[in-house]
Amino acid sequence: MSDPTSHPWWYDAVVYQVYVRSFADQQGDGIGDLPGITSRLPYLRDLGVDALWITPFYTSPQKDHGYDVADYTDVDPLFGTLADVDRLLEQAHELGLRVIVDLVPNHTSDQHAWFQAALAAGPGSPERARYIFRPGRGPAGELPPNNWDSVFGGPAWTRVDDGDWYLHLFDSSQPDLDWRNPEVGDMFEGVLRFWLDRGVDGFRVDVAHGLYKEATLRDQERPKEPEKLAESMVERVLQDEPMWDQPEVHDVYRRWRRVLDSYPGDRMAVAEAWTQTADPMAMFIRPDELHQAFNFGWLGTPWSADAFADVITESIAAVAAAASAPTWVLSNHDVERHPTRYGGGPVGLARARAATLLMLALPGSAYLYQGEEIGLEQVDVPPESRQDPSWFRTGKPGRDGCRVPLPWAGDAPPYGFGGAAGTQPWIPQPEGWAALTVEAQLADPGSTLAFYRQALRLRREVLAGADDDTAASTDGDVLVVRRPGIRAVLNAGTYPAPLPEGEVLISSGPLPGGVLPPDTAVWVR
Ligand code: NOJ
Repeated sequence: MSDPTSHPWWYDAVVYQVYVRSFADQQGDGIGDLPGITSRLPYLRDLGVDALWITPFYTSPQKDHGYDVADYTDVDPLFGTLADVDRLLEQAHELGLRVIVDLVPNHTSDQHAWFQAALAAGPGSPERARYIFRPGRGPAGELPPNNWDSVFGGPAWTRVDDGDWYLHLFDSSQPDLDWRNPEVGDMFEGVLRFWLDRGVDGFRVDVAHGLYKEATLRDQERPKEPEKLAESMVERVLQDEPMWDQPEVHDVYRRWRRVLDSYPGDRMAVAEAWTQTADPMAMFIRPDELHQAFNFGWLGTPWSADAFADVITESIAAVAAAASAPTWVLSNHDVERHPTRYGGGPVGLARARAATLLMLALPGSAYLYQGEEIGLEQVDVPPESRQDPSWFRTGKPGRDGCRVPLPWAGDAPPYGFGGAAGTQPWIPQPEGWAALTVEAQLADPGSTLAFYRQALRLRREVLAGADDDTAASTDGDVLVVRRPGIRAVLNAGTYPAPLPEGEVLISSGPLPGGVLPPDTAVWVR
């Protein structure tokens, strides 16, 4: 969206996250694919986003739905072919859309040729040295090398037949690479170049804070009260983390920056770095490192004007110190959808729309997650249909509920997602989505989709290229964000507030009686 003379395209872009399995299924097997994405590019252009980020479509046994890569430079037949990637890139670029692809450098699949070679080669071999294999503790090595837990539950170590243990911070099918081994860095430079040569505009770096572990692999110090340990990466609890955010990781991104800068066209990378506060997040976007980092502090903020104001102020200050621009994200494929987080039902949707309108007024770049533009809520996926590896490791519902395939049209599953009439896609869609389809919402000027389209159009018109000292302030439960020419005002309280003076450009909900109702935001000029 930005004025190309002042900022690169990503600086204040709106990026739409496509979860490839669940966006659009052209091949008709109940799983979304690359031709499906290509067929819907005009929809994304009309929505008004600047770019799409596509989750992993590489060769993979799909144990973690593509975040377990067996071949980084090929396409899984489930999703199409390399020629389909080329077509997608070409058509996106023709429509003025940039394309960011996912890069998964922390771990490979256990089916990757390197891991298979490591298993075959045995303890102490150079093949094992690409991963983190260690002998166990205890008299017969029967205990894991340290006390680390997997993010998906259970121990972060698995023992192989010859007695060695390997580290996996996620599923046991996702062995962690040893980034202290130079072969690993060289391999990934090749992967970057492979996709840059094909024309991608950027990378979303999976687990960007995880590549290096503290070299000693010492035990994590656990708080005396176990409830003080964060249960997921979303929780921001200051704790001992020898497995995350080690200083050595920054040299990796300095190397990648040099590679990205050697290509024309402002190629970029955005870090998925779940840091404990905003300041370490900003370290990933110093001028010689990556361009952006997801601001998960915003996603984790409770419904409160003061809390929103604090995160806005803190995030802007942290990235200003790094001389970059902030990013804002409310939903993605790993977290509960934000209308549900905000309480669900009509209140949840009203708050979700209000938070989105506020977010779109903020400086920097906004990341949207597919389906939020039609107001989808988290789905309660029945246990027999759950597929998230964390469900299998913990028995907790996991992330399937935010990954249900999109409803495009019609009044019954698969709602135009693809596949034969009357069949269900890979995660079943609920009954009752007919009113939520893109088709239904395009016909309704009061729909959430119409609201997103209007907000994105106005953002281009009013805020394009805006560079300013953004100020967030509160008056009781009312939050005010000042940008050049507009104020974005959110009522996070339970009573109506006075409508701010000026011309209302857009509101997230109805404004009856000339007041700003609870759970509503406006842009005022
Ligand atoms: C973060 C990804 O967003 C998530 O879906 C995945 O399970 C983990 N990284 C492991 O790759």
